[in-house]
Amino acid sequence: MALRKLVYDGDSILLKKSRPVTAFDARLHTLLDDLRDTLIEAEGAGLAAPQVGVLRRAAIVLLPDGEFAELINPEIIASDNIEEGAEGCLSFPNIWGVVPRPLHATVRAQNRHGEFFELSGEGITARALCHEIDHLNGVVFTSLVTRFIDADEVIAMRGGGEDE
Ligand code: CO
Repeated sequence: MALRKLVYDGDSILLKKSRPVTAFDARLHTLLDDLRDTLIEAEGAGLAAPQVGVLRRAAIVLLPDGEFAELINPEIIASDNIEEGAEGCLSFPNIWGVVPRPLHATVRAQNRHGEFFELSGEGITARALCHEIDHLNGVVFTSLVTRFIDADEVIAMRGGGEDE
């Protein structure tokens, strides 16, 4: 188990675009394992490589069944029904906001061996998929917030407060 240091708001790395992953090697696998360990430790819903200081297009997202989806070079290929919902981010401790996101999103990505797959998510999962892919493009959720809210409102809106 290896934890990586999180990058926080104010670090310009969060605003940079990540480069595609081209080598599906042991180094990538270690990064993915570390992202998972770091996300579990932080009790978050998703984590992108730039949030641990690595500007590569890799992210993980917690799925409703408790498994982690590893997304390499992910792209949103379909989405619908924009809805507003509460959102947070491990790189922005104690900040939450209302962000419009698709209710459904389908992502095409590669796995750690370079094989392509598609993954669809609904609700909080669709939100996390979009949030993590935004990180790979240097987009932070605070730039999309329509209204900042406090922790009580987060709980009222979605019954929990995991951060992406
Ligand atoms: Co985030």
